[in-house]
Amino acid sequence: MNVRIRIVSGPNLALLGTREPGIYGRETLDDIVRAVTHHAAAAGASVEHFQSDVEGDLVRHIGSSRGMCDGLIINPAAYTHTSVAVRDAISACGLPCVEVHLSNTHSREPFRHESLTVPVCIGQIMGFGGYGYILAFDAIAHYLNQKR
Ligand code: DQA
Repeated sequence: MNVRIRIVSGPNLALLGTREPGIYGRETLDDIVRAVTHHAAAAGASVEHFQSDVEGDLVRHIGSSRGMCDGLIINPAAYTHTSVAVRDAISACGLPCVEVHLSNTHSREPFRHESLTVPVCIGQIMGFGGYGYILAFDAIAHYLNQKR
């Protein structure tokens, strides 16, 4: 398939494994990325991953994605609910993007109910923990296949 996917992880996701495991589970970010990479390889696709706690670094990385990959899987974490800059970067890069959340943000505090970023994504997957990233890969691979 030769598809290249970038996974982009926002603030505090490097703490997965020990961060509020009752909400986010015990899988580390490395575990999740390894599982998606393995899953993608079976479909002939490659995955690269970038994590930052810094909004500007995320914006720069997303903005530099055009021509570097075919699609994005992004968990903007807390910036989901606050960042016009991350939203604009997704929109500006012109690539299909699937938004992922480990938790079901709609069953949590009201400030987590709104996503500024999802309107510029092709879709959103939430509430399935790390497995959501596998679902997101399948969704974006399906989307890209249909576009060919
Ligand atoms: C999160 C949900 C966000 O509300 C939160 O700020 C995160 C993680 C999730 O994956 O469930 O950091 O994006």
